Amino acid sequence: MELVKWKYCNPYSNQKYSATRSFQICGRQVLINQLPEEDITLDSNTGNVVWDGAYVMCKYLENVYNWDKLKDCSPPQATCLELGSGTGLAGLTAWLKGVDVYLSDLPTKTGLLESNIAANRHIVTAQNFIQAVPLDWERPEESITPDMKFDLIIGSEIVYYKPLHNSLLKTLILNCQPHHTQVVLSYKPRGLGEEAFFSKAQAKGFTINKIPQDQLDPEFQQLGGYQVVTLRLEPIKYL
Ligand SMILES: C[S@@+](CC[C@H](N)C(=O)[O-])C[C@H]1O[C@@H](n2cnc3c(N)ncnc32)[C@H](O)[C@@H]1O
Repeated sequence: MELVKWKYCNPYSNQKYSATRSFQICGRQVLINQLPEEDITLDSNTGNVVWDGAYVMCKYLENVYNWDKLKDCSPPQATCLELGSGTGLAGLTAWLKGVDVYLSDLPTKTGLLESNIAANRHIVTAQNFIQAVPLDWERPEESITPDMKFDLIIGSEIVYYKPLHNSLLKTLILNCQPHHTQVVLSYKPRGLGEEAFFSKAQAKGFTINKIPQDQLDPEFQQLGGYQVVTLRLEPIKYL
């Protein structure tokens, strides 16, 4: 019997820093392995645990995102790339929604993604695939998908580190088909220059749309602060 009702924001029911966590996503139980024992700093091991923005993204993808928009995409399945996947919770949600998914992170960080794919392989019977791939934003041309254009690109909590903004933008542009690829990012403004990323993206030709707070997960509407933003690269206009 449940002693305390599970809520994402309830520390008594949500064991945020345990080695394995369980989430209810799209009516399925998703198990996520974490590596909470390693030190986490602003630029190392950040993906070892699920960030709140990943959960905000999951619930947006589960309950709000219009998947019909991807119906006419690359056969046989639309393709999704997750950048800076960490534990892979957001990408696993896209997989549960039926698209082919590449979870990506630094080459040294794909082991955790592989273990989380293995932990959940049995919950999907459809044929859409999911795979962990190395993708360093500072060397995107070395990725195993360098020339691939995706229908959907997602990323949670990846815009907080200003020194990587230019590389992240370059990676996005490399993997976006102008006027087609939909990009969805979630983040919390922590005063680390997150908004600067969106100004740079705009200058590079992305249109930007903030999802209204009342469409986010109810627990996070109450907390405030979390943002989900969609972007699309527009074709370059020559005057
Ligand atoms: C704050 S964590 C967010 C993890 C996950 N998306 C989440 O929300 O739980 C940032 C992620 O970006 C990854 N990352 C950092 N620098 C990167 C780089 N140069 N190329 C690719 N990924 C990078 C980290 O390894 C980490 O998984």
